Amino acid sequence: MDAQFWDDLYSGRDQLFSGNPNGVLVTEIAGTPPGQALDVGCGEGADALWLARRGWQVTAVDVSRVALRRAAAAGTDVTGRVAWTHGDLTTTPPPADAFDLVSVQYFPLRHEPDHIALRGLLAAVAPGGTLLFASHDPADVPPDNEHGFDPGDYYQPDDIAELLDDSWTVLVDETRPRTAPAPAGTQHTNDIVLRARRLR
Ligand SMILES: C[S@@+](CC[C@H](N)C(=O)[O-])C[C@H]1O[C@@H](n2cnc3c(N)ncnc32)[C@H](O)[C@@H]1O
Repeated sequence: MDAQFWDDLYSGRDQLFSGNPNGVLVTEIAGTPPGQALDVGCGEGADALWLARRGWQVTAVDVSRVALRRAAAAGTDVTGRVAWTHGDLTTTPPPADAFDLVSVQYFPLRHEPDHIALRGLLAAVAPGGTLLFASHDPADVPPDNEHGFDPGDYYQPDDIAELLDDSWTVLVDETRPRTAPAPAGTQHTNDIVLRARRLR
C-alpha cells in the first residue's frame, strides 16, 4: 500500500469516500475546544474540513497527491485553516508535542517491531492533548477481500493501548457500531475506537 497504490485507488473513481466526516471523529470531538489538529492520512479531506470549520487549525497529511488535490479543492472556504501536506508518515514523523488532537481514522499502519512510526504519531500529541484512533473491526474484514488486506498485519487500537505508558490515560477503548452505513462494497459494521489523553 504505497503512494502509487493510493493514487491509483483514488484515480479510479471521481470520489472514493462519502465526503462526510467520520462518525467517530464527530462523536468524540464535537464538544472539544479547537486547537491544533493533525489528520493522519486525511484522504479526500472530509475530517480535516469538518475540524477547520469548527475553528481548528489542521495539518492534514496524506501520501496520495490525488487525494490531497481533491481535499484542497473541497476546502476553499477554509483556506489558511488547513495545511494540506504531502508526506509518508511511516518514514517522516510529524513534529513532536505539537497537536492538541492527533486523529487517526482508518489509517493502515503496519506493525513494526520497534514501533517507530507509531511512536512518532504518539509523540506528536502535545501534553494535555488527545489521540483518537479508529479502525474497522477486523471481524468485518472477509479473508478473501479484494486487496488481500490482513488486518492482523496492522496496528489495532488494542495494540496501541498496550504501548501507552503512564503519561497517558485511556478514556475510550471499545468496539461500537458505525454511525454511517458500511462504505460501498464493504461489510464494515463496527468501529474499534481508542481515545487517550496525554497527561504530560
Ligand atoms: C483508508 S484511507 C482513510 C482516509 C481518511 N482518513 C478517511 O477516513 O476517509 C487511508 C488514507 O491514508 C493514506 N495513507 C496510507 N499510507 C500513508 C502513509 N504512509 N502516510 C500518509 N498517508 C498514508 C492513504 O492515501 C489514504 O488516503
